[in-house]
Amino acid sequence: MGALFLSGCNLDTRMSTFVTKGPVAETQYDLFMLTVWVTLGIFIVVGGAFAFAIIKFRERPNDDRPMPSQGHGNPLVEIGLIGASILLLVIIAVPTLQGIWYTHDTPADPESYMGAWYSGEELAEEEAENPLIVKVIGYQWWWAFEYPQLGITTANEMVIPAGKVVHLELRSFDVIHSFWLPRIAGKVDLIPGRTNSMWIQAGDNFLRWKEKQGVAGPEEESPALRADYAAYLEEEIHNYYYGQCAEYCGDSHARMLFRTTVVGNEEFAEWVIDERTGHSTPDGKTWNDWYAAYADDPASLTGDLNEGLKLFMGRAKCATCHVVKGNPRALGVAGPNLTNVGSRMSIAAGWLNHRIEEDGSIDLDKQYDNFYKWIKETDVVKPGNRMWKAGGGGIGELIDENGEPALLTEDEVHKLSLYLQSLK
Ligand code: CUA
Repeated sequence: MGALFLSGCNLDTRMSTFVTKGPVAETQYDLFMLTVWVTLGIFIVVGGAFAFAIIKFRERPNDDRPMPSQGHGNPLVEIGLIGASILLLVIIAVPTLQGIWYTHDTPADPESYMGAWYSGEELAEEEAENPLIVKVIGYQWWWAFEYPQLGITTANEMVIPAGKVVHLELRSFDVIHSFWLPRIAGKVDLIPGRTNSMWIQAGDNFLRWKEKQGVAGPEEESPALRADYAAYLEEEIHNYYYGQCAEYCGDSHARMLFRTTVVGNEEFAEWVIDERTGHSTPDGKTWNDWYAAYADDPASLTGDLNEGLKLFMGRAKCATCHVVKGNPRALGVAGPNLTNVGSRMSIAAGWLNHRIEEDGSIDLDKQYDNFYKWIKETDVVKPGNRMWKAGGGGIGELIDENGEPALLTEDEVHKLSLYLQSLK
């Protein structure tokens, strides 16, 4: 019945709050539906009485009926209505308060403790009984995602493990933003000068999943049941989710999107290692050798990727604002961390996409076009952004030695695009 209702209304979209994945969104959905039913009931009763009165007591031609008796001030009706209102408010208020508490406090779920599932190395001992923590920082108009326990930072595409509680700390660099990942949880504001928190969980934990299956008794912990649960995480939860800033925050608020990739435990550990390792030089030199060549004889560094990297470090000034892990001189923090940006399914805070929906792979031509477009006309893709104009430091403000405007040429944009695409 529920499925029929949903398919009939086509609510199964990428950012639908009706297709919940995990306990937080589900709690919010249940509360929403309770409110819908209560208010629908009020609408039917009040609207019905209204329609009845309009029809029954409408004026007719040559109507000489006396004025109907007036109920105003009837104590029974007045107290009855007040009582009914209070009752309805309580019916909504109690689950609302429960829901607020439930979604506010990150639950202590032993299966979600880092020690229970994280298979990567170098985890501080005291983290074994903590859930994964992600610090979310809102900027005009992009997102930084820091993983303090793992020592990595990424941007615009967050990666989290399926079925595990993740604690989020939400802060803003500039103005108020709002974190909204419709299918999994929402929304909590990111406010300058304070830290808000919330928790998310993509999919149910084993216990909750088991309860929904109606499983109890001796079979509670069988390997077969665990396998079914693993299959549920793999099939239903392992996916790519769409998020959006949900608080107006300036010119490009509508283009401040983000993505969340939900993966299995091992895939998560691999991702962390990949993020930590970062990138080497295009031609396999050590970074020291590369920089020595860059200083002494830049022309000796040939090939499109080397040309791209030289632009990245030099004329285009990308490294002033962007980190690329591995590269010892790409340390800027004003813009998104670009480590493995070539592995992301979108750029420009989710605005330019190159994911092939059918199989979740990257459309490389589209990806190249997106990088090209973004570097070439950053101001068109995202009006008002600081990569284009930044008090003289943006790529829309590049000048030559005579102080004349000298935007990146098409060839330079091409080489930078190739270099960025190679960061994977
Ligand atoms: Cu950030 Cu709207």
